[in-house]
Amino acid sequence: MANLIVVGAQWGDEGKGKVVDILSERFDVVARYQGGNTAGHTVVVGEDKIVLHLVPSGILRKGKICVLGNGVVIDLGELIHEMDQLERLHVRFEDHFFISRRAHLVLPYHKVLDVAHEERAAKKIGTTGRGIGPAYVDKMARVGIRIGDLHEPGLFRDRLQHNLLEKRAQFPENPALATLDVEQIFGGHRKHYERIRGFLVDSAQILDRLIREGKHVLFEGAQGTLLDVDLGTYPYVTSSSATAGGACTGTGVSPKRIDGILGISKAYTTRVGEGPFPTELTDALGESVRIRGQEFGATTGRPRRTGWFDAVGIRYAARVNGLDALALMKLDVLDELDPIQVCTAYRYRGDLLTEFPNESNILAECQPVYETLPGWRQSTVGTLEEAKLPPACRSYIRHLETLVGVPMALISTGPRRDQTIIRPGPLLDSWGLV
Ligand code: GDP
Ligand code: IMO
Ligand code: MG
Repeated sequence: MANLIVVGAQWGDEGKGKVVDILSERFDVVARYQGGNTAGHTVVVGEDKIVLHLVPSGILRKGKICVLGNGVVIDLGELIHEMDQLERLHVRFEDHFFISRRAHLVLPYHKVLDVAHEERAAKKIGTTGRGIGPAYVDKMARVGIRIGDLHEPGLFRDRLQHNLLEKRAQFPENPALATLDVEQIFGGHRKHYERIRGFLVDSAQILDRLIREGKHVLFEGAQGTLLDVDLGTYPYVTSSSATAGGACTGTGVSPKRIDGILGISKAYTTRVGEGPFPTELTDALGESVRIRGQEFGATTGRPRRTGWFDAVGIRYAARVNGLDALALMKLDVLDELDPIQVCTAYRYRGDLLTEFPNESNILAECQPVYETLPGWRQSTVGTLEEAKLPPACRSYIRHLETLVGVPMALISTGPRRDQTIIRPGPLLDSWGLV
């Protein structure tokens, strides 16, 4: 057993929720390290589909410890709403749910500013409007309010008032900011605090203690590598460190404690919101992938943009995260497509690029160079053994592995827990997962 990071290798929605749910059976602790409630991690248990936004996906396994690390930003009302919903499904939080006192709050003015920035932007990012960017802006500007600050009501109220006045001064024409009321926000948060105060801890210390006791931690990333604020397709990114390094800064666990990094990728590509996407299919084929893959945002319901597998992007994700292995998700969605295309390089103004470019405006001009592979025109839904996959499908998987240089440890053939091929092999053996 080991401490393992699960990280999105594309633009999010790769199927991290399903993988964390499956793997958490073999772990003691699941810790979220960044992002806020824009994340939508879907877990399908039997007939039930559960979408988790802030609470780690391990919560659905009895007895597992779940942690929201310091790198997460928390909309307290939304967290409590999610906890209430989970309690109705008989999920218990007492004694095994912990929230870092250092995690920053997403406050009502952050949501107002998120929407206002998008409205005014010359080039929209297509944010979820949940206040994530402005909350991280305040954190970096050192004016953020942390969840632990709620235990000092006077201090909390003063900071709230100061911040709201400051935002109004910066955006005097914003009518929504003018209507926000400090007393109302203060009162609401005091009430919320009573509900969650028992879960607030120094989570870095608790994680350290658990690891020293020999417990095994699964770090659950939100979003994905190409949405990372430093390494993604800036500025069309989210505002946190979604890549593997974020697991350490976002929880306070030393990089020395990490034993493995598992990237999650679809057998094709999707993206929600704006920004370049070289392998995007804007035609009927893209629409059929969207329908077959049910590619509609788990948080906002927006249609996801769809396209072919991009080996350039995944090779980049493998490098910046140090991926030991990949989980290949939603293979079944390709069942009816023939032929299937895979992007191996980009053509940019006559040059052949094999490395993912740094600039979004360059990426936007990149034309994909495709290899065409035969489809298998046969259902793979629910296949549990690799040997039972059609030969063309097995060749597709092997070909992707060669192109990206990372072995596939897990192959997903449907949304349910049990629709998964877990490959035996040295990586999973060394992580003790099989
Ligand atoms: P996350 O944000 O990375 O956790 O991914 P999402 O939950 O937003 O999106 C993944 C979607 O694909 C969810 O609706 C899952 O239930 C679904 N899903 C996961 N794996 C598979 C699979 O192998 N096949 C199919 N058809 N659906 C899958
Ligand atoms: P999970 O964890 C896919 C996208 C938004 C937008 C950009 C910035 O489910 O994979 P933000 O509101 O964060 O400032 O939006 O990031 N985005 C996601 N796309 N999956 C997600 O989360 C996302 N969270 C944010 O669509 O383009
Ligand atoms: Mg999602």
